[in-house]
Amino acid sequence: MTRTPDQTAPSRALHVITWGCQMNVYDSARMGDVLRPLGYQPVDTPDTADMIILNTCHIRDRAAEKVFSELGRLRLIKEARKAEGQQTIIAVAGCVAQAEGQEILARAPYVDIVLGPQTYHRLPEMVARAARAGNAVIETDFPTEQKFDFLPEAEAPQTPGNYTAFLTIQEGCDKFCSFCVVPYTRGAESSRSVQSVLAEARRMAQSGVREISLLGQNVNAYHGEGPDGTVWDLTRLAYALAEIPGLSRIRYTTSHPRDMNDALIAAHRDLPELMPFLHLPVQSGSDRILRAMNRGHTADEYRDLVHRLRAAKPDLALSSDFIIGHPGETDEDFEATMQLVRDVGFALAYSFKYSPRPGTPAAGAPLQVPEDVKDARLQALQKLLREQQDAFNASMVGKTVPVLFTGKGRKPGQIAGRSPWLQPVHVIGPDRLIGQTVPVRITERLTNSLGGILEEENVYA
Ligand code: 5AD
Ligand code: SF4
Repeated sequence: MTRTPDQTAPSRALHVITWGCQMNVYDSARMGDVLRPLGYQPVDTPDTADMIILNTCHIRDRAAEKVFSELGRLRLIKEARKAEGQQTIIAVAGCVAQAEGQEILARAPYVDIVLGPQTYHRLPEMVARAARAGNAVIETDFPTEQKFDFLPEAEAPQTPGNYTAFLTIQEGCDKFCSFCVVPYTRGAESSRSVQSVLAEARRMAQSGVREISLLGQNVNAYHGEGPDGTVWDLTRLAYALAEIPGLSRIRYTTSHPRDMNDALIAAHRDLPELMPFLHLPVQSGSDRILRAMNRGHTADEYRDLVHRLRAAKPDLALSSDFIIGHPGETDEDFEATMQLVRDVGFALAYSFKYSPRPGTPAAGAPLQVPEDVKDARLQALQKLLREQQDAFNASMVGKTVPVLFTGKGRKPGQIAGRSPWLQPVHVIGPDRLIGQTVPVRITERLTNSLGGILEEENVYA
């Protein structure tokens, strides 16, 4: 479904503030797309904006407080503009909007629109209602229609000159981990149809995108309706995406260990477009805590999965998320997490102190872990993870790796891009290599990036 922008719509300024995950980044771009026919054009600051969207994240600590403090700042802008006779629509989107909709309207009555992640396609109608009625609009139901069927086609690329792009293929989660708000804020698992994913990927590739990151809260649980009426899984989708001319790299995130299957593992061996880097959160290395978290697998099952992945793809690097101090976590449980990290070896990891999310089972659980204990454990874990990350990056020095160049580097004459393992790499080289994948010999490891030299000037296929 393509809609032509209404050329007669008056030009208005839209400022979107995005917090949280990559899916929110993608959603923010889509909200921009859906508002463009109403004349809204993106601007970089809120001060001159006719509409400001705050796209929020509820995953961790003090999410709601952060939102209210930001809203306080936006209120001042709205009042200053009002004094000059200008209207400003303030919308709160994302997971805090979903979880705290009524509370937002009660505490911040100057907010015009509150909308949950499943209702973005209704935004134009909400804007019209808010402008007309002058009172707040709240949309936090999970509608029966799929938002992707109603959103206009994404403008591609979402940021011009981008050689990498995100593409949401799946949303929501049915797993109900004890600590997590996602099943409540994003709703049940649902997958976009194969046709709409492939169409968006083709448009991206035509506009120059070379690397696509498929997004989903449970991306490897993807089960989209195929053109033939059958259900496609992520493996089949990845093979179809790899056929698209120009697309040379495919990534996907975030995966649940329970949804990794043999076909997807084999695809890592057989499909060169699948990048050898996998974000596979384990959260804890203790079976007791994994059970309390309702993760549905043991630590050894995770080890075994990693073993099978590495047998299929020896250079596969893993990243993970960890939660420290889940209710009931003892020193012994924490040591089991440290042991799992030692056994597996992670190239990258994100670790968080457990923080109770209202309405989730773990929030009311007994045996909450004291903050100072969490702090000490987190420090020890992060030290180990940092050492592993440094060792992984150091192991690149001396190797030749394919780098997709995506732009200029920070220093004159430099160009920069990413390795297959998501590491930023820079070299001295000509701008014409931007957008291409080129062999680079890695010569040095810096704090957060790698330096290298062009192996040869001719270009990878
Ligand atoms: N406390 C701390 N970390 C959390 N995460 C999710 N919920 C919580 C919570 N209540 C972390 C998990 C997840 C990542 C996106 O955020 O590790 O994988
Ligand atoms: Fe949250 Fe667990 Fe679902 Fe991941 S799998 S989104 S942690 S409930």
